[in-house]
Amino acid sequence: MAGTRLVVVGSGIAGLSVALAAAPRPVVLLGRAGRGPSASALAQGGIAAAVGAGDSADAHASDTLVAGAFRNDGPRVRTLTRAAPEAISWLQSLGVAFDRDGDRLRLGREGGHRVARIVHAGGDATGAAAMAALSSAARAAAHIDWYEGDVDALLMQGGRASGVRLAGDGALLQAGTVVLATGGIGALFAHTSNPPGSDGAGLALALAVGAHPRDLEFVQFHPTALDVGSGSLPLVTEALRGAGARLFDGDGRALMEGVHPQGDLAPRDIVARRVWQARRDTGRVVLDARGGWIDWERRFPTVLASCLAHGIDPRAEAIPVTAAAHFHMGGVATDDLGRTTVPGLHAVGEVACNGVHGANRLASNSLLEGVVFGRMLGAHLAGLGASEGAGARAVIERGPSLQAGDLQTLRSVMWEAAGPVRSGAGLAAALETVTPMGRRGWQAGLAWRLLTCALQRRVSTGAHWREDEPLPPAVSRTAA
Ligand code: SIN
Repeated sequence: MAGTRLVVVGSGIAGLSVALAAAPRPVVLLGRAGRGPSASALAQGGIAAAVGAGDSADAHASDTLVAGAFRNDGPRVRTLTRAAPEAISWLQSLGVAFDRDGDRLRLGREGGHRVARIVHAGGDATGAAAMAALSSAARAAAHIDWYEGDVDALLMQGGRASGVRLAGDGALLQAGTVVLATGGIGALFAHTSNPPGSDGAGLALALAVGAHPRDLEFVQFHPTALDVGSGSLPLVTEALRGAGARLFDGDGRALMEGVHPQGDLAPRDIVARRVWQARRDTGRVVLDARGGWIDWERRFPTVLASCLAHGIDPRAEAIPVTAAAHFHMGGVATDDLGRTTVPGLHAVGEVACNGVHGANRLASNSLLEGVVFGRMLGAHLAGLGASEGAGARAVIERGPSLQAGDLQTLRSVMWEAAGPVRSGAGLAAALETVTPMGRRGWQAGLAWRLLTCALQRRVSTGAHWREDEPLPPAVSRTAA
């Protein structure tokens, strides 16, 4: 039984897609209870798919490559965009009711897309709608056992991943294959649109057993999270700017005027850097969405609710915003089937890096990635026979977690040195602070690796902006 069992760590969109597609293989799905909703459930963007008249998978692929500063893996990008229409049909078959105009899917446009190709569900609640459908399918599936629990170590046998250890009671769960679908690392930064559970715990586990990382320094920053403190902040979707909302600095100047021909809808990294700089220089940045032309209840119920929950009525006042860590393009190096460099260990979704996003992810390609590569991986694993490790057994731990004070310091250091604007001097200073912390907690060890990669990549590319080594403006304009 243990040899055929598949353990999937993480119950966001990628983990659920793997688990469902792996039928009839027995799956143990491990969520992280008490860590709040997954990043998938919070996703306000939609799902990009070339389903409109005149659009094509090739055009979608081309926009993905431009956004990724051509550092993407081309064949995987084409795999993603060709599979997108079928991914939408699959989600519909599971009950996701995408927004429609009459008998057609309503298609929206977001930054970096040359045509309208984003489908949404419930306006800005696409992630929640997709997660509700997949979760109920997974709970009903006879081959899936769904438990809540953190994993703090991987079991290895003869160099092969052969199970996990659950934190708390230390129970060992043996498996033929382990899949990490644990999401991103935004919670290592002082400002993030990710939930607290997106702290890199799965990535750190993979690195602990020797899996190779890839592109760790490529982190996308979203220009507009609600500026109501630090830590996990509600996202203020880019689609609001698509609907006409505009950014202003603390002196009332239009933030993107004269900066980029696409103004407020300039590529995400360019807007995020402007927001970061203007907030530092003028104290505050706001997104003005007043004027009555926005149908808040139908198109932006999630943003409306989170603003109101913080005492801000976006229909009557401008919304304070900050840039925030949003998506990790880097991660555990994998191939298209999620294979890491460690036998028996797979990774998929944001924790993984198969190169599909390059140096910067195109808007609304992340839920899509989870579904497409998650289903491919699940189908592949469904067809594999039982596998058992042989030889010496070992339990490889992620290691101790930083104490709260250290964690707060680490997040500030990461935000200042490895945020939207980086420099060699800043990264080197951050490494000095973080290096001794590495002995006290795995988060610092992970941050150390990211900072080192960012220091070594001297040239700005995609979301990785080195103010000491910037690209000429003509080049940076294409690096959405
Ligand atoms: C947004 O809605 O602004 C975010 C969309 C995404 O990250 O793809």
